[in-house]
Amino acid sequence: MHDVPMARPTLLLPCILAAASAVLSSPLFCDAHGKTSGKSADIVNGPLLTTKLNAKRTLIVGPNDEFKTIQSAIDAVPVGNYEWIIVHLRSGIYTEKVVIPETKPFIFVRGNGKGRTSVSYESASPHNAESATFAVHADNVVVFGLSFRNAARAGLPNNPEIRTVAAMVSGDKVAFYHCAFYSPHHTLYDHTGRHYYESCYIQGNIDFIFGGAQSIFQTTEIFVKPDRRTPILGSITAQDRKVEQDSGGFVFLKGKVYGVGEVYLGRANEAYSRVVFVNTYLSKTINPAGWTNYGYSGSTEHVTLGEFNCTGPGADASQRVPWSRQLTQADAAKFLTVDFIDGKDWLPAFY
Ligand SMILES: *[C@@H]1O[C@H](CO)[C@@H](O)[C@H](O)[C@H]1NC(C)=O
Repeated sequence: MHDVPMARPTLLLPCILAAASAVLSSPLFCDAHGKTSGKSADIVNGPLLTTKLNAKRTLIVGPNDEFKTIQSAIDAVPVGNYEWIIVHLRSGIYTEKVVIPETKPFIFVRGNGKGRTSVSYESASPHNAESATFAVHADNVVVFGLSFRNAARAGLPNNPEIRTVAAMVSGDKVAFYHCAFYSPHHTLYDHTGRHYYESCYIQGNIDFIFGGAQSIFQTTEIFVKPDRRTPILGSITAQDRKVEQDSGGFVFLKGKVYGVGEVYLGRANEAYSRVVFVNTYLSKTINPAGWTNYGYSGSTEHVTLGEFNCTGPGADASQRVPWSRQLTQADAAKFLTVDFIDGKDWLPAFY
């Protein structure tokens, strides 16, 4: 069912020139615009993860390598895999749709940096899952240094059911380091499971980080794009926690939010929706009300949509909707570390 044309790796961005002498095991970090990020404090890189995961096998994907497409390498991983295996992607753009099925855990997908290696597909659908360029259904998956793009155009005005997901994540214990997610809207379907995103870049409009997962977004950059499909303001997040026992929620730590136009931080769309922004820079792209219950008619009494110690013009809480929260240090405590996702038990590296 997945139409997987030949990968056409193409040289991406000028930063690759600076990296011409870099070997595969020493990736150079580039930001979304191709400049080196210069984040010296950030010690998580491809070699560190490779050492930590101690993989026994590497499958190499590239135009002159054994595997020409990412999917063909995933297909070569044995069903019921139980030892870490590296799927290494050479620099370039892979034009294909990729699915890591539930039966193939312990895969480390290693790109050469989010400005250099990218998987892109043009796919709009009425269904989020069907539209996804990249889908992880397996548990225990780590991804480093890769961009995910849904290259579909934004849907037509008043036709918001056209979904264009760049990545869908429904496995448990899935981590992304130095990755980027691009789509016009509905970019990251953070569906279920415990997830960790570190030093990632996520772009979109209208519910562009959504789903029921239990996730930490550490030092993540969120870029809001304009969207002319509907006259309403979009929301960065739409989290699906339905009952109190559900451990789900999205926690943003030390990131920044900026962009074009105006959006809400999130939307109450289930009775226990939970999203918190902590120590995050919020630009004036955040509407002063902060949060919305657009499209949701239930009570907001049990939602946890809040902020703690954020900075920037968008962090002014004086006009926030009354049911949103400015967390106290005590309220915030459980969101401040990877313990929120039991990360010390399974993450190969974390802040
Ligand atoms: C609040 O943010 C400032 C930086 O803006 C930081 O120095 C301080 O440690 C933060 N406080 C807490 C409790 O996290």
